[in-house]
Amino acid sequence: MKPAEQFVINGGRPLRGSVAISGAKNAVVALLPAVILADEPCTIENVPDIRDVTISLQILSELGAIIVKRSEGTYEIDATQIKDCCVPYDLARKMRASYYFMGALLGRFGQARVSMPGGCPLGDRPIDQHLKAFRKLGAACRVDRGMVDITSAGLKGDRIFFDVVTVGATMNAILAAVKAEGTTIIENAAKEPHIVDLASFLNSMGADIRGAGTDTIKIRGVQYLRSTSYSVIPDQIEAGTYMVAAAATKGDVTLTNVIPKHLESIISVMEKIGVGVEQFDDSVRVYYDKPLVKTSIKTRPHPGFPTDMQPQISALLCLADGTSMIMEGVSEQRFQYVDELRRMGADIQVDGKVAVIEGTGTLSGAPVKACDLRAGAALMIAGLAATGITYIEDIYHIERGYADMEGKLRALGADIHKEPIDPSGDEVRSNRSICG
Ligand code: EPU
Repeated sequence: MKPAEQFVINGGRPLRGSVAISGAKNAVVALLPAVILADEPCTIENVPDIRDVTISLQILSELGAIIVKRSEGTYEIDATQIKDCCVPYDLARKMRASYYFMGALLGRFGQARVSMPGGCPLGDRPIDQHLKAFRKLGAACRVDRGMVDITSAGLKGDRIFFDVVTVGATMNAILAAVKAEGTTIIENAAKEPHIVDLASFLNSMGADIRGAGTDTIKIRGVQYLRSTSYSVIPDQIEAGTYMVAAAATKGDVTLTNVIPKHLESIISVMEKIGVGVEQFDDSVRVYYDKPLVKTSIKTRPHPGFPTDMQPQISALLCLADGTSMIMEGVSEQRFQYVDELRRMGADIQVDGKVAVIEGTGTLSGAPVKACDLRAGAALMIAGLAATGITYIEDIYHIERGYADMEGKLRALGADIHKEPIDPSGDEVRSNRSICG
């Protein structure tokens, strides 16, 4: 087995230059299962090279789809021969978004058997709303030995009202309803850009989905979905992460291949903190303009400030002047990274869903661990801005959702490399951090 690797960052260099943003993780993990609904082969472009995509393609392939990589980021997928409706635990457990195979398989075959998503470092993330949607469409759902068993004698459109605003259940309801008989109306739907992207992808195949991006989505079921060639939207959160990294390192970075409209809430917070931002048609320039200042933020569903940017912005606020406050309004537990940032000199107190950050102006390199994807991104930003060397372990979390982060950062001038973790471990690393 390949030894585990860590990122080693020698911080303190301003990031400068231009970085191309990849396709959106949270869109592509729904678009790939959605291909199961197509009655002809489909081509998807701008597919990011991340681990969640590798796992999604592996699941499709195990189900019986034929996948051809046409060029970097472009895949032709023929799912018409799929016969199997079961996604077993050993594949599904690798990626929470494997729950999109429930909606896609149910929509195509009227049945699905997919492993129940496992525990999650972001706290309790139930799927009751996903199952509520399937049941409303006429399916029976039960959990049997860790598998969610969904069966129906033909799905029928209905009105689905979500008790909470949920991205995953909104996507799954769309997937299940697109070929159901009659009309489905989803109320209190999530409005994230990736919901709109899934609807646009399915509409490009001949689906009839209206209102995606608002809180009411209307779907008229169709019988046949034809071939399409479709490009995934740029990743809003990857873009936001590089924006914060540019500001934290007192740099000047232009992000290309972005949709500035998707970045509005992030840009607004950056400007409040004192970061310079210029917007163009499909690019955004972010530059350090003046000393950073405190702010208060509450994360909310789109179009609010995204929970997936909360750890990164916290790392930035550690470098700002004054006391900032962050209220987590979406996830159950999203402050586990705070202990790791404290190892780098951050002064953050957490009480339930609120974090109070005393800006210290500086951070110092330390050995740390990524506990989830965005926590990992926050540690990368902290390491880039810190004085000395930061070692980040458990980088597989980061590689789940960021395409070639090391290469992109190096091209912007960061001193970063990946190296195997020395099996003799802790002592060596703590010695190094003292040197750093
Ligand atoms: N919820 C329920 N019941 C459900 C579904 C959700 O109570 O059946 C609750 C959750 O517990 C949570 C809230 O509703 O408190 C929102 O959850 P949502 O369903 O919106 O989250 P998700 O679909 O599981 C997606 C992203 C996450 C992102 C959240 C919030 C994907 C694959 N994942 O998760 O992305 O944090 O929306 O925007 O799209 C990430 O990219 O790092 C990440 C974790």
